[in-house]
Amino acid sequence: MRDLLADIADVGRDPRRGGYSRHGFDRAELELREWFTAEALRRDLAVRTDRNGNLWAWWGSPGADAVVTGSHLDSVPGGGAFDGPLGVTTSLEAVDVLRAKGFTPNRPLAVVVFAEEEGGRFGVPCLGSRLLTGAIDADAARRLTDPDGVTLAEAVADAGLDPARLGRDDEALGTIGRFVELHVEQGRGLVDLGEPVGVADSILAHGRWHFRFTGEGNHAGATLLGDRRDPMLPASALVLAARRIASNVDGSRATVGRLVPNPGGTNVIASTVDVWLDARAADTLRTRVVVDQITAAAAAVAADEGCTVTVNEESYGDTVHFDPALRDDLAGALGGVPALPTGAGHDAGILAAHVPTAMLFVRNPTGVSHAPAEHAEAADCAAGVVALATALERLAG
Ligand code: GLV
Ligand code: MN
Ligand code: MN
Repeated sequence: MRDLLADIADVGRDPRRGGYSRHGFDRAELELREWFTAEALRRDLAVRTDRNGNLWAWWGSPGADAVVTGSHLDSVPGGGAFDGPLGVTTSLEAVDVLRAKGFTPNRPLAVVVFAEEEGGRFGVPCLGSRLLTGAIDADAARRLTDPDGVTLAEAVADAGLDPARLGRDDEALGTIGRFVELHVEQGRGLVDLGEPVGVADSILAHGRWHFRFTGEGNHAGATLLGDRRDPMLPASALVLAARRIASNVDGSRATVGRLVPNPGGTNVIASTVDVWLDARAADTLRTRVVVDQITAAAAAVAADEGCTVTVNEESYGDTVHFDPALRDDLAGALGGVPALPTGAGHDAGILAAHVPTAMLFVRNPTGVSHAPAEHAEAADCAAGVVALATALERLAG
């Protein structure tokens, strides 16, 4: 079996951050799309791009009740090699395994590559699957901007798509009978259990909130402390409140991974600070409690400092419970592998609201993910290919 991940190991490396920076419709992601298209064509799969920029490679004529697998090729800024690409490469390798054993699907089978799953460029995760399913309003999506001010509408137009056609795609969605996404595990569940492969049970409720604190830009040396309106104070309070408040709500997580002061000079009191909060919990109620308390803590410090704050929910998804019958069926077919919850979001989580959906996880020796150290051993990836082939054979046979 060829290791397809090795073929793309040089695409989108980020020398500044380390790891990979591959974002929706940027140069690296477009190169990966070309690579995927070539690999699919080499396998006589028919490649199409849907209205939302998701790539489909069909084994058999596209049609209803298809078994669909796949994942994404974009990364977080400075991400690892496996999150996304492993699900795409193992899908192609599973097709090879099935072909080699002479299997012919008796319903359509497709490998899909979803666009901008991480939201690393336009801020909304699972953008391709949200657009496909109508989970995001098309006008709102068209207006999303990247850090350089390029809108999604402009980016898809540059990639040869018609931005007017973005949005819920009942034709493409209607083809999916069942969806299975293989993914590197982003925790230590399988390591702790001593298992190379598992199935997913659930995904935490999660969302992203953009806070803008506005104060008064001024001189770091000449401005008396009592005269300042420094938005970095409430921004810092938000960072600390995120940890403190999430610690008090069972199973929840709250993270600030991105904080941008404007203008960002060492000797300059910022005029504004943009902060993005990622919050996750067992359910919507707990997530709201965490976000509301963090917001209140930061707003109190903003008021003390004479700053204002605005909050914008950029994305939200409720708890996902994967189809229990499909989960148990696949776990059984794979020899009784464990079912694991995850705190990570996935396109499979978006599709689960529409079609029976399952996920397979491949062991990650340290559990580290969204970082260059993310890893899966070759033998475990190969076990993932065999597991995915088994699942596809079962569902499409
Ligand atoms: C995506 O991987 C996420 O969980 O944010
Ligand atoms: Mn990810
Ligand atoms: Mn992923």
